[in-house]
Amino acid sequence: MAAFGTVFMPEMAISWFDGNSWSPAEVVSSDSLQLHPGAHVLHYSSTCFEGLKAFRHQDGSINIFRMDRNIDRFTQSSELLALPAIEKTATANMIIDIVRRFKDEVPEPPGSMYIRPTHIGTEPAIGKAATPSVTSCQYILLSPVGDYFAGGDTTLRLLLEENGARCAAHMGMIKSGGNYASALRPIMKAKQEQNADQVLFCPGGDVQETGAANFLLIDGNEVITKALDESFLHGVTRDSILTIARDLGMEVQERQLTIDELLERAAKPGCEAALSGTAAVLTPVGTLIHNGQEYPVGNGGIGATTLKLRQALNDIQWGKAEDKHGWLTRI
Ligand SMILES: Cc1ncc(COP(=O)(O)O)c(C=O)c1O
Repeated sequence: MAAFGTVFMPEMAISWFDGNSWSPAEVVSSDSLQLHPGAHVLHYSSTCFEGLKAFRHQDGSINIFRMDRNIDRFTQSSELLALPAIEKTATANMIIDIVRRFKDEVPEPPGSMYIRPTHIGTEPAIGKAATPSVTSCQYILLSPVGDYFAGGDTTLRLLLEENGARCAAHMGMIKSGGNYASALRPIMKAKQEQNADQVLFCPGGDVQETGAANFLLIDGNEVITKALDESFLHGVTRDSILTIARDLGMEVQERQLTIDELLERAAKPGCEAALSGTAAVLTPVGTLIHNGQEYPVGNGGIGATTLKLRQALNDIQWGKAEDKHGWLTRI
């Protein structure tokens, strides 16, 4: 199977902001995009994006998961990057129209169609390091993706990074390319030197998130994760899993979690940890690495509660359980 996000549908939806208004959305070839080499995004990283999925149900219908929530975050990211304002309805229509156009290509579960809205500053102005781009472009790419867990379920090894941060503290809640660039070197180093799969960024001992997913600790009936603030990405999967956990009668605690508490709780035999994200869904964490020492989470294996929560989320996404929170947009 092709690596996640490397296969694209041949066309994308696109719209341009000329400084005054957005152009009507068009469908164009997705293999190229014409930009001035001096475009603001290429120099000053005026860019944000989203990641959401459309699922095929047994009745043949196509359903987009939590589109409104992702468009809200896209709008907020654009605002915080001083990009032109997103018109939410127009963006929703672009997403729906392009997914509809390729509805026959949406894979059966456990596959899905990954949707990547992107917004970039296009103004050709290399003197504008401290001034926003007045023009921009948004486009919606589609990429059919398979089963993330196809290789069999394994648990992840996370390096707890106390000294570095994933990105600048005020940028964490913005889904912007620069944040990923900023996290790359620490992640590469952790992979090479510690055989870690991911870095769990914990600046000053405060357990935040990994490079591309949120972190949840599951201790018996309690789910513990960092409370929302501007320093990390407010995952839509995080919110969905916490909602499902509450629905199942679990006690959700959104609060500060320190490395000390994490390691103390992880030492209990029944403790579990997991990463949540649109791509990762809910991936079990088996080992924490801290100051050169390895700490299994619980028994180091795949946690039963993690699997139960993941299944409950998949069942809603795949149309096998009632969508009682209205998370699906049927197109
Ligand atoms: C840094 C980071 N944190 C968390 C997440 C999870 O967000 P979501 O659940 O909305 O996909 C992502 C994206 O997948 C991410 O890139």
